[in-house]
Amino acid sequence: MTKVKNKKNGIALFQDMKKCKEKISMITAYDYSMAKCVSATSIDIILIGDSLGMVVLGYEDTLQVTVENVIYHCSAVRRGAPETFIIADMPYLSYHLSEEQTRKNAADLIIKGKADAVKLEGGYPSRIDAIKAIVDMEIPVCAHLGLTPQSIHKFGGYKVQGKKPEQQEELLKQALAVEKAGAFMLVLEGIPEILGKEITEQINIPTIGIGAGRYTDGQVLVYNDLLGYSDMQPKFVKHYAEINSNIKEAIELYSQEVKNGVFPAPEHIYYPIT
Ligand code: KIV
Repeated sequence: MTKVKNKKNGIALFQDMKKCKEKISMITAYDYSMAKCVSATSIDIILIGDSLGMVVLGYEDTLQVTVENVIYHCSAVRRGAPETFIIADMPYLSYHLSEEQTRKNAADLIIKGKADAVKLEGGYPSRIDAIKAIVDMEIPVCAHLGLTPQSIHKFGGYKVQGKKPEQQEELLKQALAVEKAGAFMLVLEGIPEILGKEITEQINIPTIGIGAGRYTDGQVLVYNDLLGYSDMQPKFVKHYAEINSNIKEAIELYSQEVKNGVFPAPEHIYYPIT
């Protein structure tokens, strides 16, 4: 199993992993202690997703997340995972308004956030221009297609994309376009397995799936979801732990022990009165 010890080799290594059919593992993280745990595993990539708006900040969707939010969380993650390849999400409106702002925001995520690459959603011509502008600044870009959460109002909710043949054709076209624009990786979210397979076979850059079936070059899950540390249980999430109930049980026990005088016990006390 290859561990991307040197983040500087990441992009070439991910490309090789696709060629060798070695799966790439990605997980989101949002703070120092999460990142320390992740960096002690074989995970290849950490994503500071704008999902942080929902799972950490309690917003209803990802649209309110700012570049400053991502920089704040990304720099904390970097301190916990100095050697891991880190991708920072470009929030809604950070790459939509002008090329100058797009370039500045991407550069801030790299310089201030200490990310190795940025991710942005969509494959329409304006997004292709954004990818080209960022790649032109030597910043690696991961594209993101399918059920892109920043488009929920357009989609009318979190709905699987690419179910109809003409939508599949359009998404394949966009995948080819983001590759041509210079993206080094593509996240595919919320699409039928057959489309995930087709896109993965048709493009040369690695694909990372989330709700995109088994045939993508890698998988990504939200940290809180896979640990059972959120209320989200969409079909594509597997709980590898049930942290929520463990935390509640532990905190309840602590509270009870404080209330009935069991905590602190002598071993927790400096110079206890005997
Ligand atoms: O924001 C995020 O966490 C993401 C992943 C779910 C792909 O974009």
